[in-house]
Amino acid sequence: MGKLRLGVLASGRGSNLQAIMDAAAAGEIEAEVAVVISDNEDAYALERARQRGVPAGFVNPKSFSSKSEYEKAIVEQLNRHGVELVCLAGYMRIVGTVMLNAFPNKIMNIHPALLPAFPGLHGQEQAWRYGVKFSGCTVHFVDEGVDTGPIIIQAVVPVLDDDTADTLAVRILEQEHVIYPEAIRRFAEGRLKIVGRKVFTKEIEPFRSQESE
Ligand code: GRF
Repeated sequence: MGKLRLGVLASGRGSNLQAIMDAAAAGEIEAEVAVVISDNEDAYALERARQRGVPAGFVNPKSFSSKSEYEKAIVEQLNRHGVELVCLAGYMRIVGTVMLNAFPNKIMNIHPALLPAFPGLHGQEQAWRYGVKFSGCTVHFVDEGVDTGPIIIQAVVPVLDDDTADTLAVRILEQEHVIYPEAIRRFAEGRLKIVGRKVFTKEIEPFRSQESE
């Protein structure tokens, strides 16, 4: 079986993209980043992709008459590169029906809080301001809402008394870089099953030696 072809959409620094590319290069996931697309010409994510020889391009939302037209252009790029799973990694736009219909249950996102708590922007700071004792991060499938789709994996990060929003964000980011490749790995292995709002991960059959039977 060939490697799962990923299309990564990113608007900024691209550290999650880097974690995904690193995991792929290390052979930890049966996947490869086929293309990186940004809505921000200056996104460092584009530079990271180019350094790895991954095709990377800026698609300017302002040059389209509507969100649908913009998304059609993105879908065209993703299809051109044979993308099978779309990974949003710091992509600062709400996904619309054109993309959702083109990639049903095939778009993932990472959010820096334990959803459904603290959706939207600055999840780490929202959690820190609220005073929760635990926060974390969530990888989920994308639906038409904002950070509302079925949850694939979460990681818990304790909030320390001397944390600032920034120090908490750093520890959450470390966990993002662990769980995003792991979610992709499970998808690539065909182990994710969506039932309503729930996502189940099928376990791999344990190896049984002849002797133990
Ligand atoms: C991450 O905190 C991610 O959870 C959120 O946006 C940020 C992107 O960071 N969706 P990076 O561009 O991957 O470094």
